[in-house]
Amino acid sequence: MTLVRFISADGDRIDEVTAPSGARLLDVAQNIGQPLEGTCEGQMACSTCHVIVDAADFAKLPKASEEEEDMLDLASHVTRHSRLACQIWLDPALETLTVRIPAGVHNMQGR
Ligand code: FES
Repeated sequence: MTLVRFISADGDRIDEVTAPSGARLLDVAQNIGQPLEGTCEGQMACSTCHVIVDAADFAKLPKASEEEEDMLDLASHVTRHSRLACQIWLDPALETLTVRIPAGVHNMQGR
């Protein structure tokens, strides 16, 4: 199990959820109403699942594929610790995972 923390774009809200190993971060986020569209559902064709990972947690993740890096080039507000949530699977080695929702994203309800 991994304790996942989602920090809102303005930093004002932190939502926490415990999720099982093997769960995909995009699914975990959507299950608790985080504003990540993930329009292409992991087909690497949208970059609307962009998250900014805490630096220490980023170092524990497997390296992004070239395809993921290419999709991140299309996202806005990209940082050195940006990843696509559809390409992150929770691993037993990750006790916690903290990600920030980039500024300017809106979910289907426009929140
Ligand atoms: S859901 Fe489209 S690239 Fe992740």
